[in-house]
Amino acid sequence: MDLYKELVDGPGYAVCPIENIQLFKKLRDSFLDKINITTESEKDINMVRKTMIKMSLAEINKLRTNLLTFTDLSDMMINSCPSLIETLCGKELFIQRRAHIIFNVPDKDLLRIWSHYEMMSGISPFTYVLWAPLHDLEDDGGAYLIDQKYSLEVMKKEEADGLVNGPTVLNMMEKQKPAHLKFGQVVVFNPFVLHGNVSFNSEFTRIACNVRFQSYHKPLLQKNSDYLKYYRLP
Ligand SMILES: [Fe+2]
Repeated sequence: MDLYKELVDGPGYAVCPIENIQLFKKLRDSFLDKINITTESEKDINMVRKTMIKMSLAEINKLRTNLLTFTDLSDMMINSCPSLIETLCGKELFIQRRAHIIFNVPDKDLLRIWSHYEMMSGISPFTYVLWAPLHDLEDDGGAYLIDQKYSLEVMKKEEADGLVNGPTVLNMMEKQKPAHLKFGQVVVFNPFVLHGNVSFNSEFTRIACNVRFQSYHKPLLQKNSDYLKYYRLP
């Protein structure tokens, strides 16, 4: 598989194996330490996922603030997939200073991410996103991604109609089926691909992390050095 071709000329996204799974497991352990939820069985991701279902939005926000101490999340994510990243952007990079850990809680639609593409938030067209669940993803709690050819058609139509998330996008959202993934798989996608979440039923919250990166030699747009930091792959 030619990853660069797939991301630039093909669908705009690809599912790949995480290269350094030991490091990614360490990342998950760090998350479990920092989120600081006490469950009967310590350090069990599925217990954390279950416990979160019963939490209020305020309690979930508190968990998010607990994660502010996770300052090496970006580096850990990037170092989990060094060859993938080098293939796309070389060794000299700008990476997101603070990677995100995101929760998709069943029945809490307020937390759901609606259809969007990354360039909507001022990110450069040369940016890619790495997205990985911290557990097997066997229900519809994951993210759907729309082939970039169709994504671009939708965006052009919306631009012509003067709309953002108009009826085309809203109707499209209802029909989407998020990909099921295994722990140890990562999705990488370009900033033109529409993506989002759907409502889903499960006894488990979905927990995933994501990080943005681009070549150091490509231009930055609105998101500059407040958001990104220089990073050189080993
Ligand atoms: Fe996004």
